[in-house]
Amino acid sequence: MLVLGIETSCDETGVALYDAGQGLLAHALYSQVALHAEYGGVVPELASRDHVRKALPLIRQVFAEAGRRIEQVAGVAYTAGPGLIGALLVGAAIGRSLAWTWGVPAVGVHHMEGHLLAPMLEENPPQFPFVALLVSGGHSQLVEVRGVGRYRVLGDTLDDAVGEAFDKTAKLLDLGYPGGPALAHLAEQGNPERFTFPRPMTNRPGLDFSFSGLKTFALNTIQTNGNDPQTKADVAYAFQEAVVETMVIKCRRALRETGLGTLIVAGGVGANRALRQRLGQMAKAEGVTVAFPRLEFCTDNGAMIAYAGCQRLLAGQREPLWFSADPRWTLDQLVPPES
Ligand code: KG4
Ligand code: ZN
Repeated sequence: MLVLGIETSCDETGVALYDAGQGLLAHALYSQVALHAEYGGVVPELASRDHVRKALPLIRQVFAEAGRRIEQVAGVAYTAGPGLIGALLVGAAIGRSLAWTWGVPAVGVHHMEGHLLAPMLEENPPQFPFVALLVSGGHSQLVEVRGVGRYRVLGDTLDDAVGEAFDKTAKLLDLGYPGGPALAHLAEQGNPERFTFPRPMTNRPGLDFSFSGLKTFALNTIQTNGNDPQTKADVAYAFQEAVVETMVIKCRRALRETGLGTLIVAGGVGANRALRQRLGQMAKAEGVTVAFPRLEFCTDNGAMIAYAGCQRLLAGQREPLWFSADPRWTLDQLVPPES
């Protein structure tokens, strides 16, 4: 079964062709980062318009790269939420219309289901069940995953998502937008001994997160110590260290509490090198396995949507002829495709 996947939930247009037998055949991504940079954040209307401009050229590109024809497509998957409603509707309208024109079924995919199934695109995919750490610009969740659509949210953020905390702290440090990767880069110059930030909510039971206090801690540290380049790097280091250690503690706790032996990490912050390294060390010490998608599939992409959509189409899930999108669709509203 050959599936076209379309991702337009935020500021990246992602398109891919995935085949159930042969795996990922081609994928293409257009990032709008430069478009939104001068506004310091994503401007929803500009995002929608840019998806309109880029989606069809990218779709043509993946067909050419994969050497496949339209007649070979057996289904179309598009991100139906959560995300920016205008941006989502662009992908949904294009995906649903193409499926209708081609006479094949369509399926609306949950963006976070796409992220948490992204490690399945790797050569040695993890086996169900596993614990997933979903860390992106909009989410910080620990989820017990028993199969496609069988998700139990174990912990969630009470305030800022971890990527959001990275981006807001990066803004305080004048690192531009989106600042997560820039902050991680600056942290490499930081002096590990200079500042220690708190590890929020680690000294009480539970698997929820809270990251907004760390941003305030960073602000206070700069106000007290100045914002010279070395101080900024030291703050970046201490901030990243606190976030990473907090996540490692919660992942260890989630694995112990569920008794599961596999952790997968997905979402944009999963690209963070310090996080990958420290989770690797924790997994070794605990005798468990940790799996990451390749870096380009940690952040938003069409391949994860094509993969997740293919699983649901194979199980017989179909959308009606109309389409919709839900900007606030939650992961625990999902059900397995066969039910
Ligand atoms: O999954 P994603 O591409 O989009 C959402 O669905 O949100 O995640 C984007 C988030 C941004 O907040 C970005 O700053 C963060 O992931 N991010 C990182 C790194 N790469 C991306 N944060 C920390 N370190 C990184 N290397
Ligand atoms: Zn995402």
